[in-house]
Formats: sequence, structure tokens, C-alpha cells
Amino acid sequence: MKLNIYLETKKSLIDNALETFFAERKSKKEGPFALLYEAMHYSLFPSGKRLRPILTCAAAEAVGGQTEDVLPIACAIEMIHTYSLIHDDLPAMDDDDYRRGKPTNHVKFGEATAILAGDALVTEAFGFLSQARKTLKIAPEIFLEIIEDISLACGASGMIGGQLLDIQFQERAKEAEDVNYPELEFLYIRKTGNLILVAITSGAKICGATPAQVKALARYGENLGLAFQVVDDILDVHDNYKGPDGRKLPSFPSILSMDETKQRSRELASRAIEALQGFDKKADPLREIAHYIVERKQ
Ligand code: IPE
Ligand code: IPE
Ligand code: MG
Ligand code: MG
Repeated sequence: MKLNIYLETKKSLIDNALETFFAERKSKKEGPFALLYEAMHYSLFPSGKRLRPILTCAAAEAVGGQTEDVLPIACAIEMIHTYSLIHDDLPAMDDDDYRRGKPTNHVKFGEATAILAGDALVTEAFGFLSQARKTLKIAPEIFLEIIEDISLACGASGMIGGQLLDIQFQERAKEAEDVNYPELEFLYIRKTGNLILVAITSGAKICGATPAQVKALARYGENLGLAFQVVDDILDVHDNYKGPDGRKLPSFPSILSMDETKQRSRELASRAIEALQGFDKKADPLREIAHYIVERKQ
């Protein structure tokens, strides 16, 4: 299996489905809310890696489902991820000027519109994912369970809580107060791991995964999600000196050595792959994605 072809194929299916979302709102795009739709579209395209929705598709396939069955959920997850990035870049958060190779949403549209574009993306994501019930013959309870899973993963004690801790830990670092390894791991599981985990379990649940399959895929997702953020730290190592006097902000390589950090990311990826022992070759894309995550350069 050529992973790059797999990733490209899924990415274009996801991009097309997201474009359809905007095409269906064509009349609204020409109305008074045109600016909001433009700002939402601006951050969704051109795309990033589309890792989370690709994982939704790969998890579906691992349990015998198909990408087409999970595209609305996959797209909803990407809309939530994109909202989180718009808000993460705001001046009150990371104050970043570039994202996905171009000026950030607030730099292009102003802060108020950027905040609202993020709000609209997360809100409409739930509508988009609910659309799948019209085409799939899935018990409504499964949809409700997935909606609950996603809202918990991204909510106050999930991704958003993780973002709050991230800001608090940065403040502590500026005061020269250390953040320890378990604290940082706790934060990373929430700010990044949770959405990756729920992207995987949602794809599997929609395709009729058994409780044992969901459990194994959750173990894969927990390890993969953390590995992803550890590697993000390795790739961002030069940005981790934003503190006053060039002080390091909390990150894995600022707590562990770089070698230990790389070792940790490889261990997490191996554990993710081990969790897939009970799956046949339909789970190969998930296995290869775990390798790709620790080897990626962006
Ligand atoms: C960036 O995520 C934010 C983190 C949680 C580390 P990605 O690296 O997946 O960003 P895109 O979607 O490819 O732009
Ligand atoms: C972003 O984390 C996490 C979320 C948006 C939930 P970071 O702030 O570490 O990611 P980058 O470096 O801006 O992509
Ligand atoms: Mg951040
Ligand atoms: Mg950031």
C-alpha cells in the first residue's frame, strides 16, 4: 500500500465533501452572511493534512465500512479542528500570523469575524454530521452517542480545557515555574489527543464496530493522538523560545531531552500499532499512519 496515494485520495474526497457543504449554501454566500462564509472557507482551504478526517475514514475501513459512509462525520471533525486553529491563532491565544501557508484568519478578516467564523464552523459541524442520518441506515442512538462523544472530547474538560491549561502553563513558564512531564501529558491528551481519538472512534462506531473493536481503536487513538502532539513539539522546537529572555515554553523537548522525546514518540506509535493486533489488513492504513506520524516533517 502506498500511503501517500491513500492520503491524497482521502484528502480529495474530504475536500470535495467540504466544498459541497459550501455549494449548498450558495444562496447564503451571496446574502448578508457572505463574509462569514468566506472567512470559514478561507481557513478550510487550501487544506492542511486532513489527518483527523482521514483517520475517521481509515477507522471505518478497519471495521469493514467505507469512506462514503463516514464523510459527513469526517468533515464535521475537520470543521471543528479548523475552528480550533482559528481561535488558537488569535492575539489572545498564540497570536500567530500564519497558518497553513497564509495569513491567519484574524489577520485577513479581523478578530471579530475570525471569532465568529470559528463559532460558525463548530456549530455547523454538528448540523453537517447529523445529515448523515438521511443517507445511512444507522440507529439514531449511534448518532446521539457520536454527538455526545464529540462534544465531550472537544468541550470544557476536553480540547477547550486543554487550551486553557496550555495558556496557564505558558504563564507559569514565564514566571519561571516549572511544568512537569505528567502535567504536560495531561494537557496534550486534551488539547490534541481527544479530537484525534474521537475522529477514530466515530468512524468505527458509524460502521457498526463491536465494543471490543471500539476499545482497541480507542487505545490506538490515545497513543496516536499523544504521539502526534509530541512530534508537533519536535517540529516546533524553534518556536518554543517565545518566553521573556528567550525562556523555553513548556514542551516535551524542554522537559525531556530531544532524544528522549523522539524515543517517546516512537514508543507511543508502537503502542498504537500493537492495539490493532486483532485487526486484519483492512487496518493497514491505520498502521501506516502511525509510522507516518512519527516520521513526518510537517
Ligand atoms: C495543528 O494540527 C494543531 C495541533 C493540534 C498540533 P495539524 O498539524 O493537524 O494541522 P493541519 O490540519 O495539518 O493544518
Ligand atoms: C493547537 O496547539 C491545539 C488546538 C488548536 C486545539 P498548538 O498551538 O500547539 O498548535 P500550532 O503549533 O499552533 O499548530
Ligand atoms: Mg496553542
Ligand atoms: Mg498555536
